[in-house]
Amino acid sequence: MSTESADDLTSETPTPAQDEQPLESRGSNRSHRPQSRRFVEFVTSGWGERPPSTAARAEVADFTAARRSALSARFPGRRLVVPAGRFKVRSNDTDFRFRPHAAFAHLTGLGTEQEPDAVLVLHPVADGTGDDGSAHHAVLYMNPLAGRDTPEFFSDARYGEFWVGARPTLDEVATVTGVETAHLDDLRDALAKDVGAGGVQLLVVPEADEAVDEVVAQIRGEETTGEADALLAEAVSELRLLKDAYEVAQLQLAVDATVAGFEKVVRSLPRAVAHRRGERVIEGTFLGHAREEGNDVGYTTIAAAGEHATTLHWTDNDGRVRAGELVLVDAGVEVDSLYTADVTRTLPVDGTFTDVQRRVYQAVLDAADAGFAAAVPGARFRDVHDAAMRVLAARLEEWGLLPVSAEESLDPDNQHHRRWMVHGTSHHLGLDVHDCAQARAELYLDGVLEPGMVFTIEPGLYFKSDDLLVPAEYRGIGVRIEDDVLLTADGNVNLSAALPRDPDAVEAWMAALRKG
Ligand code: GLY
Ligand code: MN
Ligand code: MN
Repeated sequence: MSTESADDLTSETPTPAQDEQPLESRGSNRSHRPQSRRFVEFVTSGWGERPPSTAARAEVADFTAARRSALSARFPGRRLVVPAGRFKVRSNDTDFRFRPHAAFAHLTGLGTEQEPDAVLVLHPVADGTGDDGSAHHAVLYMNPLAGRDTPEFFSDARYGEFWVGARPTLDEVATVTGVETAHLDDLRDALAKDVGAGGVQLLVVPEADEAVDEVVAQIRGEETTGEADALLAEAVSELRLLKDAYEVAQLQLAVDATVAGFEKVVRSLPRAVAHRRGERVIEGTFLGHAREEGNDVGYTTIAAAGEHATTLHWTDNDGRVRAGELVLVDAGVEVDSLYTADVTRTLPVDGTFTDVQRRVYQAVLDAADAGFAAAVPGARFRDVHDAAMRVLAARLEEWGLLPVSAEESLDPDNQHHRRWMVHGTSHHLGLDVHDCAQARAELYLDGVLEPGMVFTIEPGLYFKSDDLLVPAEYRGIGVRIEDDVLLTADGNVNLSAALPRDPDAVEAWMAALRKG
């Protein structure tokens, strides 16, 4: 060990003899970074000029400004704290790929590896004197690019330029977002300013970043975040119920990339059938496509062949894919702006539905179509579900599966038909696959549909192989059809209409893809 380590520039401590080394420092035993002064001087010098910045204002910046103004209007006089969140550990000292909290992405337009720990703060100012005439001034606190003369440059595996690449500067992020930027070191003082009895009230989007929650609680002299913070969480969630033009365009891009991914999945089916874990072939095909064309998948792909399709969130995806069976594929590409599609198709593995498969499929398709017909401005969100359920209950009655009439089953006190579809028919879609999840019931489930809302319509029927209440021919069949829908002034648009839904169209599409 070097005798020069006493005045090293790194935070690493020299390795003591094994018997005296504390447990918490043993993680560094697998490698050794030089710490000598000569090394530090050498590694931090001799680097060329950085290229001039190419940062430019992002297209989304005008939209995020309007979103921040809308949030400002709900909380005059309050300081609003919206953390991006931190890295999440996947295994020991390796992290998951960073993805910011949806509220942060929505209000800044950012969504890359460069913003872990960043915090957007809307500082209250006199009404009308803030950004765009609002009652707040936004500042984005972040860890900017560290100089090459710092230990972070070469020794910090999480943030250092040697390890993860150069981070942007404060000026670059300000240019891209149109938001003033400041160093993260300034955050605590900025949050605490004028907080106290009769002063500014501080609200944080809770559970996005535990460290920020703690700072906020300390400044307020409280143990934890509280009810007022839940109001902010609710507000940033409700702010996303109506998508602006930028968001709609991004969602359409996500859906289009997803449609292309499903085409690759169909082409992969012969390989899936031949593989002992054919479901993984499907999952891997879609994941590879999502990484190539977008940021990632928006959620873990469900590739559920045969009976697995009756497990609603089958993500093990380790089963065989057999000719003669159906395979349910629920998958969505998340584009670089972090908006995701959420689409399901249930496909005959060999390209042709059997009679009973087609019967179940057609019932689900009719339920979905009834949902589409109900999805119009002025209707309630729950009407879409109710319309789909009326169709399914009627079909189950027709098949002799219900112990009561369809009408009786639809009574809220009964609901027998839900044995075969226990999930909901729709959810809002956006930056989160289940978007706007903290919105109040009166704006979500009981809410009135408005142009600009984007949500799924995804009825299904799932007959488990050990369900003794259905005839044998139905057992082991699971069907879900899921599309992404934009509410418009005069009805709706199926954003995922490019992916065939009708059973004949599905067969023709699969046949064409297999030939091509
Ligand atoms: N992919 C999850 C869902 O459809 O809600
Ligand atoms: Mn869904
Ligand atoms: Mn889905």
